[in-house]
Amino acid sequence: MAKIGIIGAMNSEVVNFCKELGAEKTKIEGIYKAEAFGHEVYISESGIGKVNAAISAQRLVDIFEVEYLINSGVAGCLTKELSTCDAVIAKELTYHDFNPLDILDRNPPYTSRFKADEKLVKIAENACEELISGGEKFKYITGNIVSGDCFINDGAKAKQLREDFGAFCTEMEGAAIAHVATVNKIPFAVIRTASDFADENADISFEEVEKIAAKRASFIVSKMLESI
Ligand code: ADE
Repeated sequence: MAKIGIIGAMNSEVVNFCKELGAEKTKIEGIYKAEAFGHEVYISESGIGKVNAAISAQRLVDIFEVEYLINSGVAGCLTKELSTCDAVIAKELTYHDFNPLDILDRNPPYTSRFKADEKLVKIAENACEELISGGEKFKYITGNIVSGDCFINDGAKAKQLREDFGAFCTEMEGAAIAHVATVNKIPFAVIRTASDFADENADISFEEVEKIAAKRASFIVSKMLESI
């Protein structure tokens, strides 16, 4: 039995967990509790952006004493190797809007890159493989993710993020959750699915694809719960 915290920024990113796992309200607004596969699962709708995500992650640690943190949600895809609704499993995360980034290397937490837990990464990869062999049609990549407090809808900026950070997708919370998990010495994973390509069509694509992409991410994370 483990205590597992799952964070999604928006309602679309947590609603499937709450429904499928029959989650109930806790004393903290926006945090729900469920039991699944012998685990206590705390599901938090954090709100968008790094600060909201960090508040949510630290609350899960301090109030509910979670032993794992998993971030599930959508992202702007930075590679044409993937299509919308395909998945990126984070290997390492960093910020694209923290300048200069090496301030974090020279000051607490003495790192600017947050490495996901290898065991959770393997579990996420296995979950994707199982879903694919069960008939779900999608691709996944394990690689870097960059986060920042901006919705990227500019193809040139997307290309720059891909090149500068070797990132496969960009979003607005993952690195903050990874940062909190690292400081608290808690294993974490970030699973994102492509809602758009962070280019000039991103707003329309996001609008159209968000819910279905978020559902795919929550499927993968739900499957992971069976193996933690
Ligand atoms: N989340 C989903 N799409 C995104 C984008 N294009 N930029 C930042 N966060 C996102």
